[in-house]
Amino acid sequence: MKRVAILISGGGSNMIRLVESMTGDHPARPVLIASNDPFAAGLAKAEAMGVPTAAVDHRGFRGDRAAFEAALLGPLLDARPDILCLAGFMRILTPGFVERFQGQMLNIHPSLLPKYPGLHTHARALEAGDAEAGCTVHLVTPVLDDGPVLGQARVPVLAGDTPDALAARVLTAEHRLYPAVLRRFAAGQAGRIDL
Ligand code: GRF
Repeated sequence: MKRVAILISGGGSNMIRLVESMTGDHPARPVLIASNDPFAAGLAKAEAMGVPTAAVDHRGFRGDRAAFEAALLGPLLDARPDILCLAGFMRILTPGFVERFQGQMLNIHPSLLPKYPGLHTHARALEAGDAEAGCTVHLVTPVLDDGPVLGQARVPVLAGDTPDALAARVLTAEHRLYPAVLRRFAAGQAGRIDL
């Protein structure tokens, strides 16, 4: 049974779907939900689902990323995760941290990578006049939003879409994609999922 730690920064809607998916004959179970924000709403939801939580406030480290990560590593390693899922986690991780978990750490990004790495993905897709948008689950490597793609889900861009409207449509696709990719990854199956 694979042990999964999920890192969040906010509401944790992806985390909730991942936790809810890990039941029955699923080859993984959630062992920790950790956040860089002690007030992240997702922490209370994780506790309500019976998953242990941890919070390390990155604001206490005044930009010293390595020190923040060293503090985060404590509870993280105590949970003995086999897989880390970044889900709405909004901190950039140092190459050292990434390399420690390379090959075991997944992230979901709200664009069809390699298009639009970084922030404001929906506004950029609309600005470019794209006919479709979507999300990507990828293995995390030291280069931001750049690792091997494990899955993608596509949604149409509709006339009159605002960034918020497109974000909402992509988020529902994220909630389908991430659990499907995690299950396949935890089962050790190769290949990518396209929805
Ligand atoms: C959303 O913008 C989502 O696209 C991205 O992170 C943000 C928050 O997600 N993955 P969540 O609701 O906290 O999972």
